Order: sequence, then structure tokens, then C-alpha cells
Amino acid sequence: MDMNDDTYVFYRNPFTHYPVVARGEGAYLFDEKGKRYLDACGGAVVSALGHSVPEIVEALKAQLDKVEFAHTSQFTNSAQEELAKLLTERAPGGLNHAYFVSGGSEAVESALKIARSYWVQMGRPDKWMVIGREQSYHGNTLGALSAGGNRWRRAIYEPMLFKAPRAAACSCYRCPFDRKPATCALECAEDLERAILEAGPEKVAAFIAEPVVGATAGALVPHANYFRRIREICDKYDVLLIADEVMTGMGRCGSWFAIRQFGVVPDMICLAKGLAAGYVPIGATLVHDRIVDTFHSRKAIFQHGHTYMGHPLAAAAGVAVIKYMEANKLVERSKRMGEELLTRLTTALHEHPHVGDIRGRGLFVGIEFVADRETKTPFEPEMGFHRVLGEIAFKNGLIVYPMGGTIDGRRGDHVLIAPPFVITKAQIGRLVELLVKSIDAAVERMQLKVDV
Ligand SMILES: Cc1ncc(COP(=O)(O)O)c(C=O)c1O
Repeated sequence: MDMNDDTYVFYRNPFTHYPVVARGEGAYLFDEKGKRYLDACGGAVVSALGHSVPEIVEALKAQLDKVEFAHTSQFTNSAQEELAKLLTERAPGGLNHAYFVSGGSEAVESALKIARSYWVQMGRPDKWMVIGREQSYHGNTLGALSAGGNRWRRAIYEPMLFKAPRAAACSCYRCPFDRKPATCALECAEDLERAILEAGPEKVAAFIAEPVVGATAGALVPHANYFRRIREICDKYDVLLIADEVMTGMGRCGSWFAIRQFGVVPDMICLAKGLAAGYVPIGATLVHDRIVDTFHSRKAIFQHGHTYMGHPLAAAAGVAVIKYMEANKLVERSKRMGEELLTRLTTALHEHPHVGDIRGRGLFVGIEFVADRETKTPFEPEMGFHRVLGEIAFKNGLIVYPMGGTIDGRRGDHVLIAPPFVITKAQIGRLVELLVKSIDAAVERMQLKVDV
């Protein structure tokens, strides 16, 4: 491997030679050599509007002309007030308060601390534990990493993580309870009850889950009744339900909040990524009235905070993004174009010998690859199929989000496809064409026999 040593940047992977991004336009990014890339994943499911939208750039400039920063311990600002109003108006009933931070991990950390603080205010200081799920990801800061079940991301930091019991994943393609959807008795949801009872309900503060699992499992959609049962179990044992919508929120799955599609109201929702669509870093935790009212009635403050919370520029971007999405009906478009994308991918790949499952909601689609379709046997992890596919696609001018460890943190390969909501039908056609070409080239590179 060739080290990239002509730089002062501490890259996450110093063995990769990254092209320099020069500009963006709609669904495309261009590097400084003029090569064009179809951005089919918004980096890491971030760029919901596409690149360089003039209305958002103007809104940012207008905010900068007023004020760039004022600390939230001294001032509020009209941008964060407006963003909180816009968000809570769109959120499921009762989630009427927004706590602003600078990214997804911070939004999750805040939710965990709000849960803990709430139970202290309620006179139940023994409640501190958080239950997450197998094959989940909630961020890379130590608290968020502790709550998540992504083994390879956790591995090296294991000694530094706090104990967070895990409930089963909800995967209909690889059901951990060997069920078919027709015979499903929601054992995966029931497994939360097992985890709560084992930990001791008096100790459990919250359960956190992604409505549609993103980075670790490739747009894994739960059973239609899964979250209803989860809500019942949480209520039975006084456990707060946190929906981590850092990837799925803000229209990505075809509605402002994906959890709405599963018929429950969580106690908190974590947001980031699509919230300012990549124009500025931002995150938010939406909090239910009953939690905030508890703080207020006890005259308690929430002991937490970050320097850049409620940053005027970030909030102004969030406001502009929501207004742009509304004016251009982009949430509806995410649903419509998502159906188009899923149909086209299914048509192109449903008989491919190495495509095991194609799934998703809205413009949040995952493809899981297998060595053998009948047995669902994955590729050997050492082959790094997802990585090879990602590299070939990138060379072909298509950016997708490939990931390994889909099954258990080690085995399995998938790719996430999450283009901007402005993507056209013609661009979806090109995306599918480039992806199929890249998959076939990746399979060929690995000298696998394909009978298509
Ligand atoms: C569901 C989920 N939660 C939290 C995070 C962490 O967000 P960030 O990388 O902005 O800290 C991510 C990032 O991919 C995510 O997918």
C-alpha cells in the first residue's frame, strides 16, 4: 500500500489518494481534474438537496451578514428559534422541543444524557442503562459507540465503552429467529423485554434504535408491527424510546420522520445529516413535552452542552433546507423517486447471482450481496467485496456507500444508495446502469463465476 505522505492532514485512511473536490452541482460532484461523479449516496447520506443550491447559499450569506456566532449561555438567535418551530411542527405529536448540537453523535449523546437526567428528576436515580440493538450504529463518540452494536467500529475501543445490553436486530432477510414474515411472531421485538428483564427494569433508562438501519445493515426495514410492540414494551417497563433518525430523518425515507411510518411516537428523535443537507454541520434532539415539562416543573436545568450548540449559521441552513424542501415538495419526491429507484434496481438485479436482497424506504436503498443466493452465504470477509465494488464504482464516476460486516460485524457486504431528492428519472437510469456495470466488474475482479 502506497502511503499518502504529501500532506499535513491526518487522514482517516492515509493509504488512500483522495481526489480534490472542486465543485458541486445538483446530483454531481466534480474533482479538480474535471472528472464528474454522480453522487448516489450524499457522502454518508447527507446531501439531501444536491450540491450548491443557490437558495441555501444565499440564506447562509444573509445570516453571516447579521451575526456569525453568539454563545447560547448568553443569547438565543432567531434562526434556532425558527428551526425549532419548523421541526416540531413536522414532528410526531408531543415532540415539541429541539436541542441543537453539531452532528449525529452529539445528538445521540444528548439523548442518552436527557434520558438519564429525566429519570433522576423523576426520583429514580438508579435508571441509567441504555439498551441498543445488534447491528446498529449511533455514532463514534464513546457514549454513542457504547449504545451501538457495530462490532468492528467498537472493537479497538471496547475497554473504554460503558455496558449497554443489546436486543436482537429486526432482519426479515436474515431473521435471527429463523422465521419467515408469514410466521413471524415478532420475537426480535420480544427480545427487548428479555434484555430489560436481564438488566433489571429499575436500571434501564432508554432503548435506542434506527427506524430503518443504515450504515451497519444497509437500509434494513423492520417488520410493519415491530415498533408498535417495542413501544408497548418500553411503556410497560418505564423505558424511554429514542428513535435515531440521523440517517432516516428529514424526508430521506419519504416522510419527514421515518418512525411515523411505523405508527408510534418515540420520546426523543435524533437528527443530523439531512437536517442541513451538508451545507453546515448540525444535529438536533427532539424531545417530548413530558420530558421537558418534568425539567421545568422541578426547576431543573439540563446539565450538558457544547460550545457550538444552536449555532446561527447551522440553524439558518436548517431553516433554508426545510423551506426549500417544502417549496419543491422534496419529501414527496423522495418517496416517489425512491419507488422508481427500487423498481429499477429490482428489475436490473433481481436475478443477479450475487444480489441477495434489495430493500429500503424512499431514497434510502440497500443492496446486500451474497456468494450464493440459495443459501444466502456471504462472500469471505477477506475478499472485501464491498470495498472493491465501491472503488470500481468511484472510478466509473458513481459514488455509493459500501460497507462490510452486514451480518455480524464481520461477514456480509452491502451498499447504500441515497441520492439527493432532486435526482431525475434519467439520472436514476444512469445510476442503475453504472452500478450494474460496477457490480459485474467487482465480481469479475474477484474471479467469480457469474451466470447472468
Ligand atoms: C443512525 C446514525 N446515528 C448517528 C450517526 C453519527 O452521526 P455523525 O457522524 O454526524 O456523528 C450516524 C452516522 O452515520 C448514523 O448513521
